[in-house]
Amino acid sequence: MSSFTSMDVSTREQWSNIVEETISAQPRVGQQLLSMVKGLSDITDGFSVNQMEHALQTATRAERDGADEEVIVASLLHDVGKLISVPNHPRIAAEILRPYVRDEVYCMVAYHQDFQGRYYYEYLGMDPNLRARHVGEPWYDLAEKFADVWDQKAFDPEFEPESFEHFEPMVINVFAQAKSL
Ligand SMILES: [Fe+2]
Repeated sequence: MSSFTSMDVSTREQWSNIVEETISAQPRVGQQLLSMVKGLSDITDGFSVNQMEHALQTATRAERDGADEEVIVASLLHDVGKLISVPNHPRIAAEILRPYVRDEVYCMVAYHQDFQGRYYYEYLGMDPNLRARHVGEPWYDLAEKFADVWDQKAFDPEFEPESFEHFEPMVINVFAQAKSL
């Protein structure tokens, strides 16, 4: 089917074709994110493990603590924005996840630096208690657990995480269908 050369002459049939093709191409979303996780192995930036190792350790800790699939996948992807830009990486990952996960999981990733700041913001001349601004939010306990129990501990070269392949089907499953546009 031929498509339009400008949207102002588009037809219902062309749009239903576009929707159909976009839906059938949905698996590429999870595949692309898995490639990004692999790409994190090129980033170390002074930490004791590379960022892919950090991602695997964070997701493994979440899974071993009984987290559900959305939380495990979000834990794997929470720093994927570092491939593009470290200063705003939490929001990059959070917005990638947003249509596919429940709101508390989005917030867990979006605000994770405010919680993690407890461990190092004083060294950067910043307020280490930025998490206080989120007290009372329904997602506070999850974000606190993520930062304190899973993320900030996941820099241990001796820790043995699950493999990349272990998480592949979970990523494909979470990104199989958007919950919202
Ligand atoms: Fe992290």
